[in-house]
Amino acid sequence: MSLSYPQWIRPLLFRLSPEAAHHAVLSSLQLAGAVRSPTPPTIAPTKCMGLSFPNPVGLAAGLDKNGECINGLGTLGFGSVEIGTVTPRPQPGNPKPRLFRLPAQQALINRMGFNNKGVDYLCEQVKERRYGGVLGINIGKNFDTPVENALDDYLIGLEKVYSLADYITVNISSPNTPNLRDLQETDALKQLLEGLKEKQQALTQEKQRYVPLALKIAPDLSHTALEQLIDNLLEFEIDAVIATNTTLDKTAVAHLPHGQEQGGLSGAPVYEKSTEMLRHIRARAGDKLDIIGVGGITKAEQVREKLNAGADLVQIYTGLVYQGPELIKQSLAQLKTS
Ligand SMILES: Cc1cc2nc3c(=O)[nH]c(=O)nc-3n(C[C@H](O)[C@H](O)[C@H](O)COP(=O)(O)O)c2cc1C
Repeated sequence: MSLSYPQWIRPLLFRLSPEAAHHAVLSSLQLAGAVRSPTPPTIAPTKCMGLSFPNPVGLAAGLDKNGECINGLGTLGFGSVEIGTVTPRPQPGNPKPRLFRLPAQQALINRMGFNNKGVDYLCEQVKERRYGGVLGINIGKNFDTPVENALDDYLIGLEKVYSLADYITVNISSPNTPNLRDLQETDALKQLLEGLKEKQQALTQEKQRYVPLALKIAPDLSHTALEQLIDNLLEFEIDAVIATNTTLDKTAVAHLPHGQEQGGLSGAPVYEKSTEMLRHIRARAGDKLDIIGVGGITKAEQVREKLNAGADLVQIYTGLVYQGPELIKQSLAQLKTS
């Protein structure tokens, strides 16, 4: 399998607007998925959430929100691909422009706002899956569902994707859906986790298959809030935590063009904060919780660092935009030798 990414592609893509480049990449991935093998290489295979991952390098949610490129993403070597965030009903997301490059820092700011074609469309796409790695489906709530009724939306998502997903991520940490992050607070979180766990148990009985649940969290939680959250995840026997989503802290980029755009910051400036959080979670939870480490990986050695900091698996998004699939190739090569 060739993973080559011609060096001339990036400058061409960067001449397009970030969102036009995004669509160009998705189209070429769809093509790649049709003609190349979507079977990821087995390198440092690992178990997480009771599932077998051929390798620990995964794609983070948000790139393939509608599940249209699962096979194409598989050709890049990812051991897991997380699609979504998908909401029960289709929604357009925020007005454009809503995605900004900060190349000096290998960072992005986005305020996409869960633009997606809805869960029914995504489920149709997943039926075309030939990808041999692990498939995660990330679910969220519609922007116009009041946060008090968020559980209803998550239960719709859970039920609809249950038979198609290897694991399901509950995203309560996007900064671009008003009040969504309030669900991380103890009372709201307990109610949410209780409802999700009940539904997961019912679906396990009905479908005779257990599909693990992961909760994706923000890097902007205080230490105390994080500790409470971890304790809640343990109490409700959630299978994994994904740390982290984008940050609202733009101190590191405020001086750069677009550095003060509204939205979540991803890429290199998030690396330290996310990795520190990962360490904290591992110290608190011991081996009682699986952890997927995501945030700011732009170099192959950072994959190993996140694993050493306590992650069972890692995910990448922004690093792929700046480094191309070469980053996946190098990360896997390094895991082979370490
Ligand atoms: C343009 C963009 C869209 C994103 N959309 C989602 C999303 O829909 N759901 C989600 O859970 N995370 C989303 N994320 C967050 C990423 O999955 C990831 O957690 C975050 O960007 C940190 O990782 P990175 O520094 O490797 O990008 C998005 C990130 C970006 C840059």
